[in-house]
Amino acid sequence: MGLFAKKSYIGLDLGHHMLKAVQLERTHTGWQIAKAAAYPTPPDSIRDGVVVEPQALVAAIKELLKLGHFTATSAHIAVAGGSVVVRNVRIPKMAESTLRKSIKFEASRYVPSSVEESYIDFEILGPADETSMDVVIVAAPKDLVESRIAACEAAGLEIEGVDVEAFAIHRALVESNDERDWSGGTVALIDVGSSMSGLSVVQQGSFAMTRSIPNGGNMLTEALTNYFKLTREQAESGKAQLDAGDLLDAEKPKENPPLRVIQPHLDDLVREVRRSLNYYQSQLAEATPERQVSLTILSGGGSQLVGLSSYMEHKLGIKTVAQEVLDNPRFTSGLDADTPCSGLAVASGLALRTFAKAA
Ligand SMILES: Nc1ncnc2c1ncn2[C@@H]1O[C@H](COP(=O)(O)OP(=O)(O)OP(=O)(O)O)[C@@H](O)[C@H]1O
Ligand SMILES: [Mg+2]
Repeated sequence: MGLFAKKSYIGLDLGHHMLKAVQLERTHTGWQIAKAAAYPTPPDSIRDGVVVEPQALVAAIKELLKLGHFTATSAHIAVAGGSVVVRNVRIPKMAESTLRKSIKFEASRYVPSSVEESYIDFEILGPADETSMDVVIVAAPKDLVESRIAACEAAGLEIEGVDVEAFAIHRALVESNDERDWSGGTVALIDVGSSMSGLSVVQQGSFAMTRSIPNGGNMLTEALTNYFKLTREQAESGKAQLDAGDLLDAEKPKENPPLRVIQPHLDDLVREVRRSLNYYQSQLAEATPERQVSLTILSGGGSQLVGLSSYMEHKLGIKTVAQEVLDNPRFTSGLDADTPCSGLAVASGLALRTFAKAA
């Protein structure tokens, strides 16, 4: 790249199960995944988003960076989980500089923990009417943010920005995908992670609801491990052979023990999703068709369970698709055929912050 090449950033997704990183390059039609890598998160090194075993995590981040041959030295990271608050609020119109001074006060109504112990940020979405405006407020506990930044810095990375995982997913799968007509309506983004899943309802590009669901892919692995007395590795590889869609297929044999073992956990996930969507629906002042959730987009490692989207679509009665970043035609892969490209939505959405505007 020449003298004027724009500085590139790594999008680094510090998951509880897997660390994932992506570096992008601009192409004529979008972005190429120039570098990517995944490396297992040391067990219990991150708890509820907070880095609790920094030494082990720092060593793993270093391995991840080595594995992917990243050339960038700065990164964007993200936060997520039950302690991270994302709220869309309507407040009196005021200048951004005025709101910045009073943001702690505004946020204190929505943040359950002390605002002094939280990092708070906001974005003005636009005027709601003559006298009020819509603002999205984000609050994250300081220990969560600081422990993540400290681990990355100890691994030799400069941290350029801290985002919200759901915003990164939306940027990578919806906002930048101009071949799909998804930005106009209301979609639910579900990031099926390891022990939790993130759920956001996005109304014409603005985040109407974000919450965390206490169900993820690990529940399925644990159920298989316990029932069949398997090692974790055996259960992981067994799970990857299952097809949840068979649970809906009357032609398939009724007796498929592993599927029967995971079914109650799939149903728990569906129940939690349904409960959240019902809550969203009940909060709508005006239930116009464009505000109803018309599509569910699954991402995260848990969404790689074959047939999960069909199962959820059937149970929820809402069209459901599982999306990888390469399903977005704006992205291409510059990786070797043997480098896996799945589960990279958060990391790719973070790396997209290299470019001023994603679209
Ligand atoms: N092929 C597959 N089939 C079924 N499940 C899978 C597959 N690949 C990965 N998973 C599951 O995905 C989960 C991990 O997903 P992911 O990598 O998105 O989590 P994470 O980002 O590390 O965690 P979190 O988002 O909760 O912090 C694990 O439970 C894993 O078993
Ligand atoms: Mg994750």
